[in-house]
Amino acid sequence: EKGGYDYFMLKEIAEQPKAVADTLLGRIDAAGSLTLDEVRISASELREVDKVVIVACGTAFHAGLIAKYAIEHWTRIPCEVELASEFRYRDPILDQQTLVIAISQSGETMDTLMALRHAREQGAKVLAICNTNGSTIPRESDAVLYTHAGPEVAVASTKAFLTQLVACYLVALYLGQVRGTKWGDEIHAVIRDLAQIGRQVERVLQTMEPVRELARSLAHKNTVLFLGRHVGYPVALEGALKLKELAYMHAEGFAAGELKHGPIALIEDDLPVVVVVPSPRGRSVLHDKIVSNMQEIRARGARTIVIAEEGDEAVVPYADHLIRIPVTPTLLQPMVAAVPLQVFACELATARGNEVDQPRNLAKSVTVE
Ligand code: F6R
Repeated sequence: EKGGYDYFMLKEIAEQPKAVADTLLGRIDAAGSLTLDEVRISASELREVDKVVIVACGTAFHAGLIAKYAIEHWTRIPCEVELASEFRYRDPILDQQTLVIAISQSGETMDTLMALRHAREQGAKVLAICNTNGSTIPRESDAVLYTHAGPEVAVASTKAFLTQLVACYLVALYLGQVRGTKWGDEIHAVIRDLAQIGRQVERVLQTMEPVRELARSLAHKNTVLFLGRHVGYPVALEGALKLKELAYMHAEGFAAGELKHGPIALIEDDLPVVVVVPSPRGRSVLHDKIVSNMQEIRARGARTIVIAEEGDEAVVPYADHLIRIPVTPTLLQPMVAAVPLQVFACELATARGNEVDQPRNLAKSVTVE
């Protein structure tokens, strides 16, 4: 059942290109438009939406943070992302024009379920993004967009995360398509790029041996920090979460721009810092800023582990370890940048003798609040 792999997690990491392709299947038509008829919220209702609120927990929450960048950019609808466990306790502002998106692999997470119940009581429409057919969250939602990752057995989420991102991009692009935005051309180009993204994930998977070697060499460390900016920031949070749950190491993700507001005080000699570098094309200002962050932390002794696009030569002088990822549109980069971090955490857990598929104290689905 583990298909020749030592752990379900390794199998599920390897299955990602297929999971991504399966989640796209039948949702892009021959003309390159999205066909999300299965989302039974009518086009006219979607045109009325004036706010999107995403609720989720853990890894699904990180997918939601990334979705916010895509939704706001492509649709110009304001989007909030909130931890499901916090949501209903702060009296959130919701009405019939609010679209709430509940993201959950299992479809049984109690915090997320309670958040969506609260949203519906306030009159909001709820769209579930879920991996488990017929589970409670999609049953209690107005509509559902299923991810097709297949069963995820390892407690740490990997393939479900990538397919949650795909589903979020589909929703964002669909909202853009239905409402018509000035990004019409960009939306078509991104749909084409999205159709290719599984192949790029496959390429990343083929180059992971140096990442595994690096992970083994860091097995004795106590702390690893993760930095990112723009969509790379939630990727940094996700990298840190994977490391906490699997390797039981102290790991924290920061927005790179926040470094100088406190976290830089943590930098000490030989501290491993993973840096997720935005593309030098497009938002090149961000790229240059993160390169100077790398300079700053290296000058203070950090050991930089840099995840950067192929062809990005500006990072080379500041990278103690360089992990290359394929060139993608800015907003899609998390699809390829998250993969090395999954492999990194899995290998570190193995090197530290931890139970990879069943980390201590954790359950696959959290059905209590
Ligand atoms: C992390 C992880 C958890 C889940 C979270 C939400 O690897 O597995 O953080 O992502 O408990 O679970 P679902 O998506 O089932 O609602």
